[in-house]
This record gives sequence, C-alpha cells and structure tokens, in this order.
Amino acid sequence: MRIIIFLFSLKFLKSQETSYTELCLAFNYTKINDEMAKNVGTQLSCHSQQLIKIDLHLRTAYLGDNNLHSILVGLSKCSLVEDLKLELIYNRLTSEGARQIGKALSQLKNLKILQIDLDQNEIDEHGISQLLYGIQECQQLTEVNLQLNENKIKSQDTSFFTNQLQKLRNLKTFKLGLKCNYSALIGLQDLSGLGKALAQSENVQFLKLDLSANKINNQILNSLSLEICKMENLQSLQIELNENQMTELNLGQVFERCQNLNQFKIRAIENQIDSTGIISFCQSFKKCYSLQILDFDLSYNQIRNEGISQLAETILDLKNLRTLNLSLEYNFNDQFDEIYLKKLFIKKSQLVKMRIVVFGLV
Ligand SMILES: *[C@@H]1O[C@H](CO)[C@@H](O)[C@H](O)[C@H]1NC(C)=O
Ligand SMILES: *[C@@H]1O[C@H](CO)[C@@H](O)[C@H](O)[C@H]1NC(C)=O
Ligand SMILES: *[C@@H]1O[C@H](CO)[C@@H](O)[C@H](O)[C@H]1NC(C)=O
Repeated sequence: MRIIIFLFSLKFLKSQETSYTELCLAFNYTKINDEMAKNVGTQLSCHSQQLIKIDLHLRTAYLGDNNLHSILVGLSKCSLVEDLKLELIYNRLTSEGARQIGKALSQLKNLKILQIDLDQNEIDEHGISQLLYGIQECQQLTEVNLQLNENKIKSQDTSFFTNQLQKLRNLKTFKLGLKCNYSALIGLQDLSGLGKALAQSENVQFLKLDLSANKINNQILNSLSLEICKMENLQSLQIELNENQMTELNLGQVFERCQNLNQFKIRAIENQIDSTGIISFCQSFKKCYSLQILDFDLSYNQIRNEGISQLAETILDLKNLRTLNLSLEYNFNDQFDEIYLKKLFIKKSQLVKMRIVVFGLV
C-alpha cells in the first residue's frame, strides 16, 4: 500500500497503526523546523522495517545540515528500501550534509533505484566525493540519478569521480547533472576524472549528462569522448552542453565504438560551433547506423548553410532513424530554405516523427 503524507497530516498519522510499504512526503516549499524534521525522522524509524519505496520531496524547505541529519537518522534504518527519491533542491546544505547523505545511503544495501536532487546547495567537491563514497556501497543499484547542478564546486577538475562508480556492477542507467552557475564563472575544465569513472561503468546502457555552463572546449569534449566510447553497451546517450566554448562536436569516438547506440540526444545551445565543426562531426556521425531516435539542438551557434546541408545529408543516410527533432535556430543561415529541407526529409526518409526548425525568426 502507498501512502502520501502532507505536512498537515503528519501528527495524525503518527497515531495510526497502518501498514504501508510506500511512503511519499510532499513537503516542497514548506519551511521545516527542528521539531518537524525530528518528526519525519521518527516516522521513518517507526516504519523502517516495512518501507520498500520512499519519496521525500523537500524542495526549498530551508533544512540546513542539522535538520537534514534528523531525517537521515530515520532514513538510514530503512534497510529494506529498494527505490528512494530525495528531492532536496535549495536547502542550504553544505558538504557536511552531502557526507551525511552518503553515510545514510551506505546502510541501504537493498537499494536498486536512487534519485537525489541536490541542485542549488553549497556542496563542494569533497562533499560530492563523500556522497559518492556512500552510494557505491549500494551494490544492487541499477539506476542512479544524481543532480548536483549549481553547487559550490571549487575545483576545476573532476578527480572526485575517479574510481567512485566501479563497485556498481549492476548499474544500467546513470544520470548526472553538473551544470555550473555560469554567473559564478567557475567551471569544470577537466573532465578526465568523470570520464575514467564512466569508462569503468561498462554495463551502463543509458547515460544522461548535463555539463552546461562549464568551460568545455573542443579538447575537453574530445577527452571525455575517448572515455565514454569504452561504454560499449551504451544504447542511449543524452548530453547537454549548453553555454560552453566549443566550435566542434568532438564525439567521434563514441559513434565509432558504441555500435548499439539507438538514441542520441544533444543540446549544445550557445556555443561557437561552425560549419567546419559540423562537417567534421558528420564524418563519424554517419557511422551511427543503429540510431533510431535523434534529438539535436544547436541553436545559437555559427553554422552556415553548407554545415546544415551536410548535416541533413548525413541524417538522411541513417536508415534506421524513426524520430528526428532538429533545432538549428539562430545560426548564420539567413538564406536557408527550410521548406526545401522538410520536403527532402519527407520524400527520402522513413521517419515516423519529425520536427525540424531551422529559422527562429518568430
Ligand atoms: C514536489 O513534490 C511533488 C510530490 O507531491 C512532486 O511530484 C514534485 O515533482 C515536487 N517538485 C516540485 C519542483 O514541485
Ligand atoms: C548564481 O549566480 C547568481 C549571480 O551571481 C546568483 O544571483 C545566484 O544566487 C547564484 N546561484 C547559486 C545557486 O549559487
Ligand atoms: C524538440 O526540441 C525542442 C528544442 O530543443 C524541444 O523544446 C522539444 O521539447 C523537443 N521535442 C521532443 C518531442 O523531444
């Protein structure tokens, strides 16, 4: 049985003798004080030997590390839980909070699915490292979604990832958000630690990365690609690279080696990608024979007509493609004939779904 607890019903529930296996706390945008946090911890403790699925929604709950701790005391006892979602966006959590989450998670040996959303807190690279250290104790995990966007990472490299995923032999789905706060002007400039960790996760089939608003250039993306291409079981790659510093899309090695890739989604809005960059991308992209779903957004770059034509030609040759979503708005392509392009696709391809936007002059 599943139960959803809203803040007002917490007291009421405490006195009830119900048995349930799923718990959802819907406390987004509610200020949680010391007493409430302890109360949530107690609820979790009381039901710790029956809960299989837990969703804690505490977005903007002004928790801080101390109140988070009270909740984690209860959570760490829920050793049967298999599916856990922690939504903790904007809670003034520091690396100490991240360390405590890692410690609590390391007790949950039955976890299979984990989603943690820690965007907009104050966690640095040491906190992330300790969080990962706890997560890797949960060796049953098949799915991890870790959102760490807009935190306070001070390091410019990602060595805090190295060797942190290698114990997770069952991992099939890995999603990671490391979007930086662009206005803060610090950005990851060395992805080799992350790359090495990914290269060891060779059973992962579904990978989603958000690396927007860092300072990623051609060379950095190339070095990441040289590691991702070792994930030979990859079927789906989704990568967000908005607001970086690339003039090319250096992912060639991935298309050469990941022969099972059937879904590819890339957003690289607001870079400096030009026609030359696109033409060299197409050289390896054309080898992505197994591709069925393509979602491509390169709006706000510097691609001219010849780049767009080459890309269109390459896509038309991907015989297994069924779904295409192509956005190329606001490039250097004033004269491009979008209608002609659409007709070409309709005539020549076997697409079931198609959305093409070249102009953005609405
Ligand atoms: C808030 O909590 C609910 C659960 O009641 C959840 O479905 C939702 O995605 C949460 N997040 C936001 C941002 O509203
Ligand atoms: C990101 O930077 C802007 C401008 O400096 C600031 O107003 C905002 O609070 C920052 N966000 C975070 C999560 O640090
Ligand atoms: C297609 O791409 C656009 C622009 O990136 C996006 O807004 C839209 O949600 C995408 N559509 C689908 C079906 O994925």
